[in-house]
Amino acid sequence: MKKINVVVTGATGQVAYALLPRIAAGEMFGPDTEVDLRLSDIPQMIDKAKGVVMELEDGAYPLLSRVTASADRAETHRDADWVLLVGSVPRGPGMERGDLIRKNGPIFVEEGKAVAQHAGQGVHVVVVGNPCNTNCLIARANARSITNDRWSAMTRLDQNRARSLIANKAGARVKDVKKLAIWGNHSATLYPDFTNATVNGKAAADAIDRAWLENDFISAVQQRGAAVIAARGASSAFSAAQGLVDHVRSLVTATPPGDCFSAAVVSDGSYGVPEGLVSSFPLHSKGDGGYELVRSVKLDRFATEKIAATVAELVKERDLVKDLLT
Ligand code: LMR
Repeated sequence: MKKINVVVTGATGQVAYALLPRIAAGEMFGPDTEVDLRLSDIPQMIDKAKGVVMELEDGAYPLLSRVTASADRAETHRDADWVLLVGSVPRGPGMERGDLIRKNGPIFVEEGKAVAQHAGQGVHVVVVGNPCNTNCLIARANARSITNDRWSAMTRLDQNRARSLIANKAGARVKDVKKLAIWGNHSATLYPDFTNATVNGKAAADAIDRAWLENDFISAVQQRGAAVIAARGASSAFSAAQGLVDHVRSLVTATPPGDCFSAAVVSDGSYGVPEGLVSSFPLHSKGDGGYELVRSVKLDRFATEKIAATVAELVKERDLVKDLLT
């Protein structure tokens, strides 16, 4: 039995409340991995976090070797194998995720430093708090000792949303929609690449009206987070937790042949995305927690323009937080 140390920040938030029992039940790391789960939150939330610890204990999860809560990152992050950065201020109605950049950015300076100081050398860090791409860029810049391939930000919720929409439109099952990658930023400029997606093995663009794909589909995926906030009065919670379970599962499980998954990772300059930006790409995993970029994707003019627009937004976000990229 493998044993790993997992940190979840923002442990008293809504996403974490949906996420923690699933990690404890083995849904994220599988049935052969025991988890030492460390709940991290700000000092004023630690009493509440103790209630969450109690609930996790009361679940009597066989794979949960230990569960603790603390506001001291020296305790929670010590020898961490996975750090899931969920904690941040969520956006409200009428806001874009990028509006949070100056409020949440400094949190990720501290998170990056804590990872560099306390986590294990082979740590994997996943950023969920928004704007997640640029928050990941900030954390990464403050933890130079941890290599680029260890950092990612979550665009899997967008991928899941896109697959559901295409499946509904095509009258197919979600599992029959493949190779549907998200490119760029987790924001209103993200590009869900229908041009390379398949439905039941056929090109999605042959099965579905191209005008719908180019317009309604893209904007529905781009605006889905805002639509959830408008309807619920609060941002997505269990679907975000599902996205994170899927994100990590995809890294620790070999990607099935003929498919890919999406996550925002540190660009090596491929596909014209400036080196160092944290941008979403189609990825493959061998199942060891790492990933490889899918390098053979053909992008038509439409896709190329959409990707250029979302990457331009990432460049702007990077400029806005220059002072935090020490
Ligand atoms: C989402 O996509 O639902 C989350 O990133 C929350 C948000 O602000 O949209």
